[in-house]
Amino acid sequence: RAKLPKYNSVDDAVDLLKKSKNIVVLTGAGISTSLGIPDFRSKGTGLYSKLEHLGLSDPQEVFDITVFRQDPTIFYSVARDILPSHNRFSPTHAFIALLQNKGKLLTNYSQNIDNLEAKAGILPDKLVQCHGSFATASCVKCGHRVPGESLFPEIKAGDIPRCRKCAQGTRTTSNSSNTNGRKRKVQRDGTDKKPRRRPGDYDSNSDSEFDAVPTNWSCGVMKPDITFFGEPLPDEFSRRLTEHDRDRVDLVIVIGTSLKVAPVSEVVPFLPAHVPQIYISRTPVSHVNFDIDLLGDCDVVVAELCRRAGWDLDHEMVPEG
Ligand code: OAD
Repeated sequence: RAKLPKYNSVDDAVDLLKKSKNIVVLTGAGISTSLGIPDFRSKGTGLYSKLEHLGLSDPQEVFDITVFRQDPTIFYSVARDILPSHNRFSPTHAFIALLQNKGKLLTNYSQNIDNLEAKAGILPDKLVQCHGSFATASCVKCGHRVPGESLFPEIKAGDIPRCRKCAQGTRTTSNSSNTNGRKRKVQRDGTDKKPRRRPGDYDSNSDSEFDAVPTNWSCGVMKPDITFFGEPLPDEFSRRLTEHDRDRVDLVIVIGTSLKVAPVSEVVPFLPAHVPQIYISRTPVSHVNFDIDLLGDCDVVVAELCRRAGWDLDHEMVPEG
């Protein structure tokens, strides 16, 4: 995509903000670091730098569904440190909410699992949580879904949360002495076929998609509904992008993400090339060509944009000056 020469300065960004009516904001972990929540890939401070002690060949394996099926203790050894526990949101969250309140926000695609968009007042119908969230959790065996918070005490205590429904089944089902593998085979042969679990189902009894859970973990390990590597993104992601946003968007703002993880990294090239694109982050990216790069602390950048636009970014953490 050739750079559009029309836009390149901070004031161009301000003009675009003021005149645009359908802004897509794509966010990543960088918008929450000012609250003390680490991002993933910043050297030294990012979560992946801090996982060397786990001895993984790649720290991303913590969020890999195949690894989780084999040994959920790896994820759960980290999960207690990344549970959403903040009630505050950053000035950048407030900025996105301000765009919404001005009627300019088309969609906020967030890769974050801290759920702070909701705390900032971003409405569910303006938000796509591309990588899911801790809001719900599901059993990897039977799909039983529960509110995520109900597992937090066990996760904080360092325990592996188990599915209550599977445990009940084990106690009450007459053939419960069967191995889980045998019981599943009967279901998969069609005698008790149930719909497969789909994103959005709250409490489906669906047949598990996870065939590879080894016997020692097969009795219903619960997994927060964050999207692991190897899992599909929520349906809403591609549906909203293709059916709702692609023909409406008039400005794209990408904030605090390294754009290293597909398919979210493909959102910007997917949107029409004539739509201006602004990148706000500490670290430049070379694999996507933005019209305007505003490099620096995103809270500072958005505060300055608002100041120049004459907008009141009402937030306790707005930096001085
Ligand atoms: P990354 O850690 O890859 O990128 C965060 C970016 O934000 C980096 O470029 C930082 O330089 C920048 N940054 C950090 N703090 C900032 C600040 N205060 N102001 C401005 N920029 C700042 O995080 P993501 O791109 O969000 O997926 O990572 C994408 C996905 O990779 C995550 O959703 C997660 C991870 O694996 C899953 O877990 C499935």
